[in-house]
Amino acid sequence: MSGTVKGFSKLSKEAKIEWLANQHFKNPEKAIELLKSYWHEDAKVQKLHDDFIENTISNYYLPFGIAPNFLINGKMYTLPMAIEESSVVAAASKAASFWKSRGGFKTTVISTLKIGHVHFIYNGNADWLRGMVESNQSKFLEDCSDITANMRNRGGGIIELVLIDRSDAEPGYFQIQVKFETCDSMGANFINSCLEQIAKTLRGLISSEAPLAGENQDVQIVMCILSNYTPECIVRAEVSCPIEELEDGSGVSPSEFVEKFQRAVRIAQIERYRATTHNKGIFNGIDAVVIATGNDFRAVEAAGHTYASRNGRYQSLTDCAVKEGRFYFWIELPLALGTVGGLTSLHPLVKLAHEMLGNPNAEELMMIVAASGLAQNFGALRALVTTGIQKGHMKMHLFNILNQLEATDQERETMVRFFSDKVVAHNEVVRKFCELRGISYESFVGRNR
Ligand code: MEV
Repeated sequence: MSGTVKGFSKLSKEAKIEWLANQHFKNPEKAIELLKSYWHEDAKVQKLHDDFIENTISNYYLPFGIAPNFLINGKMYTLPMAIEESSVVAAASKAASFWKSRGGFKTTVISTLKIGHVHFIYNGNADWLRGMVESNQSKFLEDCSDITANMRNRGGGIIELVLIDRSDAEPGYFQIQVKFETCDSMGANFINSCLEQIAKTLRGLISSEAPLAGENQDVQIVMCILSNYTPECIVRAEVSCPIEELEDGSGVSPSEFVEKFQRAVRIAQIERYRATTHNKGIFNGIDAVVIATGNDFRAVEAAGHTYASRNGRYQSLTDCAVKEGRFYFWIELPLALGTVGGLTSLHPLVKLAHEMLGNPNAEELMMIVAASGLAQNFGALRALVTTGIQKGHMKMHLFNILNQLEATDQERETMVRFFSDKVVAHNEVVRKFCELRGISYESFVGRNR
């Protein structure tokens, strides 16, 4: 069948590209040329990228920006941000500068535990099973001791191991729930290796002890896997200042600003349509730093959204209050991050991002990332309740269109001036651009369709 291929992963990179180009492109040479134009000129660096995933054929660039002026717990940081969306870095920088002169971000790590489960089916006596797991705690830990040795030397390891009966939800369904301290690593491989060993120990214990106790010795291990929901790996970031210091030149008085700001947060607490967009804006800031520092943004997002639903309703991850004339704005969320292992020691730009941050440990990185999310949300809400969000977006939107049109520097200047007090609509920009070049709009659009 056309489009299918056998043994693709065994082909060389060149052969993979050739197959792809011939299968899927009208102009295979052009496709190959484009893919190769994104290869790194240093073959060693390219090889590094090739080996991160499977079937690599090229690199996909994201802009790598920086947001300076973050004052976090009294220390200045410049945040690395990898993100494709315009205005995010600008909003982070603006919010950081605003809060720098108002005491900065105060952050605390509340806890750092991660959780994993052995999910299994046992159709037998739950009380016997519970007793057996409890009385064999040291056996479980001992059987994992080779895997945990390094982590224990660094101050981490297995913290707790308990049996959870979920047979109310599914016949015979139990879990061994294990809590881990993984220090400065995200710890996914470590956790999963421990869980697989714990499952082996469990199977062995049931088959040796159940017959002696006259209990059922059949057990089905369904799976062993960490949970990306980490409600015990939590960080909090807060900003605050006297209400009158919220004056920012937007023309809205501080008291009106605070009132509208509180309403905006309240709406994100009671209305899930708004909560989703509100939290999306928070993750604009969080993901950008998480990606730049080589961490797993899918895991961070998944945990964040589950945490946002912890009260049975999807809600804002940020909150605010006014007490005795002072405005407080904070975020609390789970962030399972690592500063050792994974990409952190492999990707040259990730290493640079860590150095830019002063090589933080995992807890410090949690605080930096939380501050980035809070800054982003402050910037978005401030724009939304004052000037509206489009004002800031328009300039970047215009730049993107002008890039597509391959405008010269002089054309850009003229266009920016012209649109400074107008709505940036794509067709209007193209129309004005054509007028500037003295070409027909209709034929330009027809040619570029
Ligand atoms: C856009 O990426 C993010 C915002 O929509 C967030 C928000 O509305 O709070 C601006």
